[in-house]
Amino acid sequence: MKTAVRYYSRTGNTKVIAEAIAPMAGCQAESIEVPLEEVTDILFLGGAVYWGQIPGKLKEYIKSLSPQQVKCVAIFTTAGIQEGASEIYKVFLKYHDLKVMKETYFCSGKRVYDAKIKEETEIFAEKVMSQASIMNHSIMN
Ligand SMILES: Cc1cc2nc3c(=O)[nH]c(=O)nc-3n(C[C@H](O)[C@H](O)[C@H](O)COP(=O)(O)O)c2cc1C
Repeated sequence: MKTAVRYYSRTGNTKVIAEAIAPMAGCQAESIEVPLEEVTDILFLGGAVYWGQIPGKLKEYIKSLSPQQVKCVAIFTTAGIQEGASEIYKVFLKYHDLKVMKETYFCSGKRVYDAKIKEETEIFAEKVMSQASIMNHSIMN
């Protein structure tokens, strides 16, 4: 299964989370500047909320993705106060015809360096990967 981790991070908070997820996803965390090389089964995509919105650059990136190129997106977000940040992303991605995993991960931007991050991101990535392998299996059979 081909996985990728991409993030857009202005002050580094979302990058921390991306880098915690990457080893579990079996790939490198890269910014959205780095193009996806091939068809991706699971794209872990991270971003933050600025003025209640998805940043424009990340919106453009999401719009550039096609459901043929990206089979499914697993969203992770950081924000100062908006715990529903992942939900904002979910709606935007779905509107642009991308399939989104039910499982999402949110971390307050204020606590991205605390010790529980590793544990939480591991649980998130594991759930996503096992869900994806069930989906893959049911497509193949
Ligand atoms: C200019 C600016 C606007 C922000 N607007 C919001 C907001 O509307 N809601 C919120 O919950 N957090 C807001 N935040 C907090 C960021 O979402 C939070 O710090 C996030 O972790 C930043 O992620 P990044 O470092 O990966 O870019 C804002 C931060 C800045 C600097």
